[in-house]
Amino acid sequence: MKSLVFQAAAILAILGGLTGCHIDKSKPNFELIQDMMESPAIKPQEYDPNTPNHISGREPVKGTVPVGFVYEPMDDLAVAEKEMKNPIAGDMSKEVLWVGEKYYETNCALCHGSKGEGGVESKGRISELMALKPPVITNDKIIGWSDVHLYYVISRGQGMMGPYANHVPQKYRWQLVNYIRHLQKNYKK
Ligand code: HEC
Repeated sequence: MKSLVFQAAAILAILGGLTGCHIDKSKPNFELIQDMMESPAIKPQEYDPNTPNHISGREPVKGTVPVGFVYEPMDDLAVAEKEMKNPIAGDMSKEVLWVGEKYYETNCALCHGSKGEGGVESKGRISELMALKPPVITNDKIIGWSDVHLYYVISRGQGMMGPYANHVPQKYRWQLVNYIRHLQKNYKK
């Protein structure tokens, strides 16, 4: 019995020592068990000794598409305008506009302005520094465009403007189109 108490006391003393009764917060902790810190998984952009070119990022297998991707005939605007249509045309419900606004404010407002007023007028935006000012998108020209034309430019870009297909998921792109229609209705130039 006596030795049991002694053993317990010794174990407690050791544990106390290991967990550090005098914690020095200026130094990193000593990690006793490191299994969870050093993962064998190769991180993005890390050297990979096991692939032929030692690049860890892999290309998707040819012919594969992201989950939920729907094919759209967008190689040519005229064909797109004939074969596609806005499934939520004219829907200005708050649910649609909220989603559209989120994507507009994140991806488009920095250049075209929060009201679609274009780069010349929008102040405090990156467009102030741009030599070619992003155009107004609430004028008669763009109001006259079809929904598919707007969708096409968002997806594929136009001239100096790059494509936004990777930034605005297919699932939410028509909401963005409707949000631009909302801006055109309320802040027409
Ligand atoms: C980095 C700045 C920039 C961003 C971000 C940007 N655009 Fe543009 N956009 C431009 C420029 C510059 C043009 C003119 C391109 C050209 O025709 O050479 C343009 C053209 C357009 C046009 C056609 C205007 C016309 O008169 O022909 C539309 C519509 C448009 N953008 C919508 C959008 C939408 C919607 C987004 C967000 C998904 C967006 N843009 C994001 C810079 C930008």
